[in-house]
Amino acid sequence: MNLYEGIYERQSIRRYRMEGIDTKIINNILKYASQLESLSGNCRTGFRILAWQNIKKHRMGVFSVKAPYYLVLFCDSTEEAMLNAGYLLGQLDLYMVSRGLGTCFFHGAKKLCAGENGMSPMMALAFGKAEPLYGRSIRRTRRLPFSELCIVKEEIGKEEKAMLEAARLAPSSFNSQPWRFVAYDGRIHLFCKREGWAFSGRQGLHYLNMGIVLAYLFVAAEEFWYSPEAVRVENILEKQLKRNEYVVTVRFK
Ligand SMILES: Cc1cc2nc3c(=O)[nH]c(=O)nc-3n(C[C@H](O)[C@H](O)[C@H](O)COP(=O)(O)O)c2cc1C
Repeated sequence: MNLYEGIYERQSIRRYRMEGIDTKIINNILKYASQLESLSGNCRTGFRILAWQNIKKHRMGVFSVKAPYYLVLFCDSTEEAMLNAGYLLGQLDLYMVSRGLGTCFFHGAKKLCAGENGMSPMMALAFGKAEPLYGRSIRRTRRLPFSELCIVKEEIGKEEKAMLEAARLAPSSFNSQPWRFVAYDGRIHLFCKREGWAFSGRQGLHYLNMGIVLAYLFVAAEEFWYSPEAVRVENILEKQLKRNEYVVTVRFK
């Protein structure tokens, strides 16, 4: 299975076999993480894998997920760094899925460990072997329909549509799916819905979500042999939008 196929396979796994994984697999995950390219040169990141034995379980919080391992991503606390964190973790999650592992994003990374090199533990991915019957017995979490998420300003090709369809399936905190897409002139403009709690005190999660959907767009674009790049378009940035916040534009080379 490759990363693109992983998009159609994955779902959050919250019940794991509490057993170890081959060290080779753990090392491959860290190697894959270290080779990922950041969205911009300004973003520092670090990764660490923690085993269940090394975690202070009593501090994990309400939305905790019990898993044999957690991959923790460290970064600065800026919007740009969090967008990048989501972008990297979105790919790492699909990498693990493509290797047959179960995963679940966990936003309580700060409860798992302290920061390092002046960076905060921003987000974690719980992972391990899924309980065999569990994965098959749970129903997939629904997503909003294409028509609610995408504005298509002109006829788009099959491949661009497939990229948007893949992005529609991206996971988000509380399944909030804050993304909105405008496909126009061979580019996809990405917006974030400005709504209620999403903008009050949860901005961090919000940028992580947008980073994840960006990763999905990139993975799908690469599946069709495009070279995507993320840019900020000045005249959209200047627009005052009531309901949405402009995040980034994906164009293809
Ligand atoms: C940024 C982010 C943070 C998340 N945090 C948690 C969490 O702390 N605990 C949890 O059980 N699930 C968490 N999730 C998983 C979401 O609830 C899940 O992805 C969403 O409901 C969609 O379900 P699916 O992944 O099965 O498609 C998080 C997901 C994202 C993207």
